[in-house]
Amino acid sequence: MERSYNFNAGPTALPLDVLKQAQSELVNFKNSGMSVMEMSHRSKEYEDVHNHAQELLRELLNIPDNYDVLFLQGGASLQFTMVPMNFLGNGVGSYVMTGSWSKKALKEAQKLGKTSIAATSENTNFDRIPSLGEIKIDKHAAYVHITSNNTIYGTQWHEFPQMNQNLIADMSSDILCRPLDVTKFKLIYAGAQKNLGPSGVTVVIAEKEFLETGQPNLPTMLDYRTHSKNNSLFNTPPSFAIYMLSLVLEWVKHHGGAEAIEKVNNEKANLLYDVIDHSNGFYNGHAQKDSRSIMNVTFTLPNEKLTKQFLAESKEKGFVGLNGHRSVGGCRASIYNAVPLQSVERLREFMLEFMKKA
Ligand SMILES: Cc1ncc(COP(=O)(O)O)c(C=O)c1O
Repeated sequence: MERSYNFNAGPTALPLDVLKQAQSELVNFKNSGMSVMEMSHRSKEYEDVHNHAQELLRELLNIPDNYDVLFLQGGASLQFTMVPMNFLGNGVGSYVMTGSWSKKALKEAQKLGKTSIAATSENTNFDRIPSLGEIKIDKHAAYVHITSNNTIYGTQWHEFPQMNQNLIADMSSDILCRPLDVTKFKLIYAGAQKNLGPSGVTVVIAEKEFLETGQPNLPTMLDYRTHSKNNSLFNTPPSFAIYMLSLVLEWVKHHGGAEAIEKVNNEKANLLYDVIDHSNGFYNGHAQKDSRSIMNVTFTLPNEKLTKQFLAESKEKGFVGLNGHRSVGGCRASIYNAVPLQSVERLREFMLEFMKKA
């Protein structure tokens, strides 16, 4: 069977080896006589999977012992609520606005308390990440929130601020795309369905001491401490998604870890940005060069007719998910960790061919 060239924004491609392993273990996981999906989440077999996923993430992202690794549900979207609910108090949630997801995060915080906009690039349709010098943090900031990669606009932070304030990041669309200094952040969250596995599990990495500063009397499930104290087993976790996460993390480790993955990611991104930059404006990149994402490459074509033709022809050739989000228009190639280099090479060839005959 042919696999498609999957450039979906998420959920998206998983490593073929991971899918094959899951397939081979689907009905009988490690001689247990059952699937991971059928196991008690209180069983030793499941607990090993759960802890293994945490350990691998710790190893791959160099997460220190004073940080928790939590597996939650509700997607990154629920984190938009949980963060202010736990940490806003009487302070100000200071948000750096770099796209639609930052906006959604801010909107939830506004319902729960005071907020401020630390910086924004909205006036140029979010085509860049504000420079560190532009960021104005409210002096009563309870935390500063950033979105490390802007899935829709195709921009990415390439340097994170070192700050005294509590820095919180939505890393849904670029976690583990490169090595990371976790200690710059008090809390990081990411829906798994782009770089880490299937949808259904949200990873939270947070400093334990910071979690303890959360507001009192929160609804049990919305209090990070509930999950921290119970090793994310307070209630039934998304066990199959966590199992898949563990396989994806093993795959990353097998391929040399975050540094090696970053190299390939840069190579993939450069293949496409090079076409854009040498197309005499036929392909027009949305993001400013120094803010370009190595995960989501966004570009437009000279007109609507050519864009439609590009998308239709690409579909015929087996490319999936290249249509851009409606707020940017044009096209977007999401090239997360598991998108093979060969798929990006095929896309590059297609872009060059299309331009030549247009
Ligand atoms: C940067 C970012 N944050 C948050 C979300 C929302 O994630 P979820 O669907 O897991 O709630 C997405 C989804 O694409 C995203 O790209």
